[in-house]
Amino acid sequence: MSNPNSTTSESLLAAAPEQPYRTAFHFQPPQNWMNDPNGPMCYNGVYHFFYQHNPFGPLFNKRMHWAHSVSPDLINWTHLHSAFTPTDPFDINGCWSGSATILPGNKLVMLYTGIDSENRQVQNLAVLKDLSDPYLKEWVKHAGNPVIDLPEEINPDDFRDPTTTWLAEDGKWRLLVGSQKDKTGIAFLYHSDDFVNWTQSDSPLLTVPGTGVWECPDFFPVWIDSTKGVDTSVVNPSNGVKHVLKVGLQDHFKDYYMIGTYSPEKEHFVPEEELTLSTLRLDYGMYYASKSFYDSVKNRRIIMAWVHESDSEADAIAKGWSGLQSFPRSLWLDENQKQLLQWPIEEIEMLHENEVSFRDKKLEGGSLHEIQGITASQADVTISFKLANLEEAEELDPSLVDPQLICTENDASKKGKFGPFGLLALASNDLTEQTAIFFRVFRKNGRYVVVMCSDQSR
Ligand code: FRU
Repeated sequence: MSNPNSTTSESLLAAAPEQPYRTAFHFQPPQNWMNDPNGPMCYNGVYHFFYQHNPFGPLFNKRMHWAHSVSPDLINWTHLHSAFTPTDPFDINGCWSGSATILPGNKLVMLYTGIDSENRQVQNLAVLKDLSDPYLKEWVKHAGNPVIDLPEEINPDDFRDPTTTWLAEDGKWRLLVGSQKDKTGIAFLYHSDDFVNWTQSDSPLLTVPGTGVWECPDFFPVWIDSTKGVDTSVVNPSNGVKHVLKVGLQDHFKDYYMIGTYSPEKEHFVPEEELTLSTLRLDYGMYYASKSFYDSVKNRRIIMAWVHESDSEADAIAKGWSGLQSFPRSLWLDENQKQLLQWPIEEIEMLHENEVSFRDKKLEGGSLHEIQGITASQADVTISFKLANLEEAEELDPSLVDPQLICTENDASKKGKFGPFGLLALASNDLTEQTAIFFRVFRKNGRYVVVMCSDQSR
């Protein structure tokens, strides 16, 4: 794809100082601050990715812009100019996160949170100016914005991040907005015939006391018996789907999800397990504000998230940028119907070069093997281990249900019966500096539990 108004990361980086920490696999803007993924979609066979961006520097600034990049394959990106900038009374203090919906007839709408002139969070509508523009460059903000005003009794800072909308059988579009009241996390539910007039449902889709602000909710169906993706508007359980509600807990900076049943007639979602800090998470690393979309070309659901790194502000200033996106992953419901499974999209293979393989090696306790022929900083690794006498694995302490706790209570230096074994990445020659990515196997209630951990303390 070539476009006269675009800039490519290569051309901007040519002028930047040496950039050893820029990634080869993950999406990054040419420069400056990036956080949440916004409105990802596949439209007329082209992938569009918008994101929270501070175009003026490498640190967060409330007056967010929506940057925009396009790609034929989710790998090679062309960076366009910002889609939304904070210019109107309904978003003058920031264009915050939101989502895209592709309507029947191929129309496109975008809903996003604006920080208005009184610093209140409100929900705004924008439509594409020219449906024939393959780059979707010009968006028109609806003159009557905001289309959803702050509900009474809700703190002006706690009402944001509209989801992709879905169409129920009554012909009305639905969407969720994240919020909280008195520390109870809330997913407000709205419905509309025309995207302009929205009515709040009698009760929210879900509330969970004690969880604080819910940011960036994502609500989508998954097939109960297929790894393929489902369009967001396939809503009835009678179609063979379950629903996933994902919420970002602001107080914990982590993405949690629940699997359950959504009933559009009753306007409620019943999770199979109540949300707590030890229930299901999408990822246990630096991963937040994820957003998924249905890719109708390849019939899959893809999810991306903000990888917020652990760099200090001084590091970010020195680099001139901050934030990555997780590599896009397909996601689907596991056969046991109790959790989601995820895998990097197949397009990752386009980035493979210089394959190095290391096979059929017997690993003795305490032994180390150096993998030659790759650089230490970037590699896509597929690894499988075969273990003998697993029945001798240790019993897992039944009080440990949170995988993150299992990892932190057993860091890489603690020897167990089956583990730690795995990889040392980013290791210096004398191994004083290293990141251990390791596995442990335990027994629990007559079954095996495998945890994958990373230890960044060295
Ligand atoms: C999540 C978030 C969203 C908000 C955006 C602002 O990281 O706080 O709730 O819309 O970032 O950039």
